[in-house]
Amino acid sequence: TRPLKVALLGCGVVGSEVARIMTTHADDLAQRIGAPVELAGVAVRRPSKVREGIDPALVTTDATALVKRGDIDVVVEVIGGIEPARSLITAAFEHGASVVSANKALLAQDGAALHAAAEEHGRDLYYEAAVAGAIPLIRPLRESLAGDKVNRVLGIVNGTTNFILDKMDSTGAGYQEALDEATALGYAEADPTADVEGFDAAAKAAILAGIAFHTRARLDDVYREGMTEVTAADFRSAKEMGCTIKLLAICERSKDGASVTARVHPAMIPLTHPLASVRGAYNAVFVESDAAGQLMFYGPGAGGAPTASAVLGDLVAVCRNRLNGATGPGESAYAALPVSPMGEV
Ligand code: HSE
Repeated sequence: TRPLKVALLGCGVVGSEVARIMTTHADDLAQRIGAPVELAGVAVRRPSKVREGIDPALVTTDATALVKRGDIDVVVEVIGGIEPARSLITAAFEHGASVVSANKALLAQDGAALHAAAEEHGRDLYYEAAVAGAIPLIRPLRESLAGDKVNRVLGIVNGTTNFILDKMDSTGAGYQEALDEATALGYAEADPTADVEGFDAAAKAAILAGIAFHTRARLDDVYREGMTEVTAADFRSAKEMGCTIKLLAICERSKDGASVTARVHPAMIPLTHPLASVRGAYNAVFVESDAAGQLMFYGPGAGGAPTASAVLGDLVAVCRNRLNGATGPGESAYAALPVSPMGEV
């Protein structure tokens, strides 16, 4: 069988792990897919920063030329951000490739258009790594639970803010002190806005709302409130009530079933709720459905290797589809349930 050719766009923390696992697990991947997968090119901005172990002959700064080569089966996009990722993914479909992406910002903004482009060209768009890193969520919601009816998805989908809130809860520290520790330990970025103001969680909530309810949701459809105003005093009050405070993403079907709401904000939850025990930078998502009842998905929501695990899983699925001449569920599998930021709270 001819090898399936993979173009890797981005070779940072996640991309370098994807390349590493593709090499070290090559035999297992080939066996699971039914054909070998070959790294055909790695597009980066600064070649000098590419880690050891990647053949320098594969490295290019011309991502556009790589996706337009015409012989690429799967493009793995781990660059992040809107552009150039969007143009590169669109070009990938136009040139016959399927796409695996970890790009929550792009999927939350332009997921519908990208899905439409994938379907138009008979290709796949998979993005398990875009929400909660290693935790399988997208495909369980889209496939394993597709015969059930999900009513609510409730989760901790940002590790940085969970680390900060956990620190405040366990030590009595204030927000700034806990943020400083998260920064020192490398959890929070130099500019923590996307995490602490809830933008990162809101993008993930938009993706989850779309997948869980088989509709399309965008970042603008999500009510968003960050956690910068949570104080040590709030934690003391919460404790008195047998609660803790978490930054939650909440996606719910309305009682009449005709619409969906999505929101991100700090919320008090009882210490007896499974989400209360999610410590440190971990993520967890609680799903409630008609037939299955309550499910919880828990694990590392960020980091190179955990995120690469989700990317590789998608790569296997997309390669299998390709060999079978099939694709995952397309636009027609989606209902047009309206999604809005506020509902009956
Ligand atoms: N900044 C994100 C987090 C990384 O803290 O969860 C994963 O998307």
